[in-house]
Amino acid sequence: MKQSELVDLLGRMTLREKIGQLVQLDGGCFGTDAVAVGPRAKLGVTQEDVDVCGSVLNVLGAEEVHRIQDAYLERSRLKIPLVFMADVIYGYQTCYPIPLGLGATWDPELIREDYNLIAEEAVADGCMVTFSPPVDVVRDARWGRCLEMPGEDPYLSSRFARAMVEGFKGDGTPQKSLASCVKHFAGYGAPEAGREYNTVDMSEWRLRNEYLPPYRAAVEAGCDLVMTSFNTIDGIPATANRWLMHDVLRDEWGFDGPIITDYAAIDELRAHGVAANRREAAKLAMNATVDIDMKTPCYAHELEALIETGEVSLEQIDTACMRVLELKNRLGLFEDPYRTCSPERRTEVTCTPERLESARKTCDEALVLLKNEGGLLPLTTGGNAPCVALIGPYANSRDIIGMWAIHADKTHSVTLAEAFAEVLGDDGFAWAQGCPTLDDYSELGEFGKIPAFGAPTGEGADLETMAAEALELAASSDVVVMALGEHMLQSGEGGARTDITIPAPQKRLLKRVRALGKPVVLVLFNGRPLSLTDVIDDCDAIVEAWFPGTAGGRSVADVLFGTVNPSGRLTVSFPHNVGQEPLYYAQFSTGRPAKTSTHSGRFVSRYMDCPNDAMFPFGYGLSYHTARYDNLRLSADELTADGVLEVSIDVTNEGDIAGTEVVQLYIHDKVATRVRPMLELRDFARVELAPRERRTVTFILREEALRFWTPEHGWASEPGAFEVMAGPNSRDLLVGEFELV
Ligand code: NOJ
Repeated sequence: MKQSELVDLLGRMTLREKIGQLVQLDGGCFGTDAVAVGPRAKLGVTQEDVDVCGSVLNVLGAEEVHRIQDAYLERSRLKIPLVFMADVIYGYQTCYPIPLGLGATWDPELIREDYNLIAEEAVADGCMVTFSPPVDVVRDARWGRCLEMPGEDPYLSSRFARAMVEGFKGDGTPQKSLASCVKHFAGYGAPEAGREYNTVDMSEWRLRNEYLPPYRAAVEAGCDLVMTSFNTIDGIPATANRWLMHDVLRDEWGFDGPIITDYAAIDELRAHGVAANRREAAKLAMNATVDIDMKTPCYAHELEALIETGEVSLEQIDTACMRVLELKNRLGLFEDPYRTCSPERRTEVTCTPERLESARKTCDEALVLLKNEGGLLPLTTGGNAPCVALIGPYANSRDIIGMWAIHADKTHSVTLAEAFAEVLGDDGFAWAQGCPTLDDYSELGEFGKIPAFGAPTGEGADLETMAAEALELAASSDVVVMALGEHMLQSGEGGARTDITIPAPQKRLLKRVRALGKPVVLVLFNGRPLSLTDVIDDCDAIVEAWFPGTAGGRSVADVLFGTVNPSGRLTVSFPHNVGQEPLYYAQFSTGRPAKTSTHSGRFVSRYMDCPNDAMFPFGYGLSYHTARYDNLRLSADELTADGVLEVSIDVTNEGDIAGTEVVQLYIHDKVATRVRPMLELRDFARVELAPRERRTVTFILREEALRFWTPEHGWASEPGAFEVMAGPNSRDLLVGEFELV
């Protein structure tokens, strides 16, 4: 449709129809009368509200999308199609590793390609807009939603945000492109004490320097929508925050697409205590330029009255409605209201060999080798293969996809035991669960009983028999692989924890296995950084597998048996102890830095009972080769405002196998008008090295990379001394210096 036709359409719409475009309801409301009456009544919406509603939440399945769209259009006066939006976060039916794992690849190019494939698969089954990418900076491991994000660093997260948005765009054709919605704007990753939905309060300086950049990168990459977050910013919930939505997002960043709330967030303004009733809540959100009300009756029932009283203008409604119409037009819905989805198309593209292979390749890159004492890994196969015992709740589980993979087709998932059988043959190893995932499943609530989310395994079993079987197996093997971790529901939305260690029954089993004196490999399944202090000495090797997705079993086997030389590097800091949270590498010096202060040992910034630093720092990961980094050099000792500085470092593979290094570049602004982090990531490169190969990696640094935000000057750099550092992780770095002049 041409823009003039859209304007004409808007002109023909009644106020009620315009408001309807601003309302999003879930599939339950669209059923036949008898089925839908319940959900509608629960939500407090009428059939008339449904008849003019503009979009649908979390309905997928080509048949269902056709059915709802057809019924809707038949009743609709102006035949404006519904737009179907859903959470397709890290895969649709083919499931990739959770985003913490995607981050660990340090390979945004690869992730862009993956998101192309995800888009095509989701579109084929009726998805038109995905509520993705989530790019909240995550620095508190207690927060359950760490799993959904690429990591703790603003620069790295920005690179992934851009890649994900571009990936969803695909080639722009209806079959291969999905509209994206960056979320959760803003600062959702910093709830106090890591507790879900809790208050977020930080200075504008911190917000702009550390939390806003990834959302901005997504906007600049052309994401179509923005979702408000549940939290407050400066005491005002994001959904009612005109400064954030209008002044920053629209005016400063130039975003003119629809802003949608997170689930029920307008109504929650009452619970926040900033609105006395739904009318006030609707007014606050509309005045903040929030266009779409997800899953509440606030806009549907209150906007007309607000227009009558003059508290909201007709122009505001027209602007918001036009944003939704323009989105529908961009998606081509006026020409094809199903946007090419069909059961046939789904069959053609879903879980194809190409997709399963891409999930495996990405997962191979996402796994992080955290420990490998005595070079225990990779395990030998073939003639001299050790006899392997595979033990633990994840030994043969398909629940390795993470909480947000709600549409994943688990029939394609490969368990660890199945993958071991492919490598070692059925007789080459044996497995046993050994213990339940948790001692007490009640913390998972009702969700824990839903099979799709990984129903309790081992609940009510005879625990001693279970353990005895596993111990016997371990005793008769040469090496034990323990597949342990969090229950899939212990992370994700609503998954805040104060104890971020491996669940108790699994630790008990690990210690009993350890007592047998066999070499132990720990494979971890989890959706957040874990504190591993209490198990670190009970194993010789650790592979961080995250929730690895459809291809997870095979990828873990690839790494354990050496088909793949691990290259994943952490994008979140793993603490020694939960008490260190929030923990992140880009710390500030403080006036009394623990290592360099001249004050007596007690009166410096440190813990009495725990190191300051991470157990496994940002950027960290091992490989089966070892690499040497040396000869850091700068092309000049000064950088001018329009000049470039080349920073080079030599990287040598000292091993006899090929491997990949993730070379990382950090800066430190030594003296500035405001304190600056001791380290800030500014670039990185994945470098493939043949055995014994030495390569020079050169990064280009420009003045732009030295800017930071202050209320006085906005984004600007300050002349003076800088350190520049390069190396394999944020701890082991070579340092150079230069002046910005
Ligand atoms: C709530 C979550 O916070 C958000 O990420 C998600 O997109 C919506 N629910 C819709 O399912």
